Amino acid sequence: MIVTTDQLFKVAYGKFAIGAYNINNLEQTRGLFKGCIDSQAPFIIQISKGARSYAGVKLLEGLIRAAEQEFPEAIFAVHIDHGDVATCMDAIESGFYSSVMIDASHEPLEKNIEITKLVVDAAHAKGLSVEAELGQLGGVEEDIVVDEKHANLTDPDQAVEFVERSGCDSLAVAIGTSHGAYKFSGSQGIHFDRLAEIQQRLPGFPLVMHGSSSVPAEEVARINAAGGAIDPSAKGVDENSFIRAVPLGVTKVNIDTDGRLVWTRVHREFFRDKPDVFDFRKPGLIFVDEYAKFIAHKNEKLGSAGQLDLVRQELGL
Ligand code: G3H
Ligand code: 13P
Ligand code: ZN
Repeated sequence: MIVTTDQLFKVAYGKFAIGAYNINNLEQTRGLFKGCIDSQAPFIIQISKGARSYAGVKLLEGLIRAAEQEFPEAIFAVHIDHGDVATCMDAIESGFYSSVMIDASHEPLEKNIEITKLVVDAAHAKGLSVEAELGQLGGVEEDIVVDEKHANLTDPDQAVEFVERSGCDSLAVAIGTSHGAYKFSGSQGIHFDRLAEIQQRLPGFPLVMHGSSSVPAEEVARINAAGGAIDPSAKGVDENSFIRAVPLGVTKVNIDTDGRLVWTRVHREFFRDKPDVFDFRKPGLIFVDEYAKFIAHKNEKLGSAGQLDLVRQELGL
């Protein structure tokens, strides 16, 4: 059942984080639902601009509606990931989404507030909530490239002003993570001190951690052993740190890259080991199972596994 993102945040805040996973196709969709039911977790489906142009808006909506029937136990929200104004407005008008993210974090503060407020007003009028972003993550975000060195962490005082003036319902904070497979080198990691400062100034307000893939070394090694060429220095977020971020206000954790690594490993190994096979449904089925296992594992790390009963109870479902 599709619920609002706000409803999930109210249940989760301070107790567990909700996994927000991107989908682009049938296999990811089915694997995601299966993994969340296997682990009894609520979840957020994320649709990026790239996914909308790859699969088409209508097909994505159809996939989600069909999965909802295939997995009637599932409780989830549907969210636009890194939207611009046009994408957010289109999603708000469509009546299908639970929430949107307006990402104007590349703009100066005043412009970011102005753009965010525009989307907030339209979204609230239709009962949707809005995630905004303040500060800049490193790495590649849609078509905007932010140099890792210039990625600036979210300023806690600015965060308070931003939330008050924009009216947003949750905030994506820059605390050291970045998108993609190359997040950290050496001993770099999440800036928990900065996260704590933001949470102290915004108690009870849901914070969002983008760029939360962990880029497992063994996954990269298997891909490379099957013909891939991913830089083995690729490094992500320690998945054991998710639970540390929960009491610091992190309520939504975005994971996409790790799922792409699962896809790449499954398909590279399949075609390496079965060079005569050309039925794509065979590796597709393996991927669905492997992705479901991956999702269930992440939900354990987020603390969202086993929470479906609590969500049902608190939402009166
Ligand atoms: O933050 C970006 C997400 O990983 C989505 O990636 O824009 O390539 O679909 P995408
Ligand atoms: P990763 O690239 O770490 O998976 O981050 C995904 C994300 O933040 C989507 O918004
Ligand atoms: Zn992101």
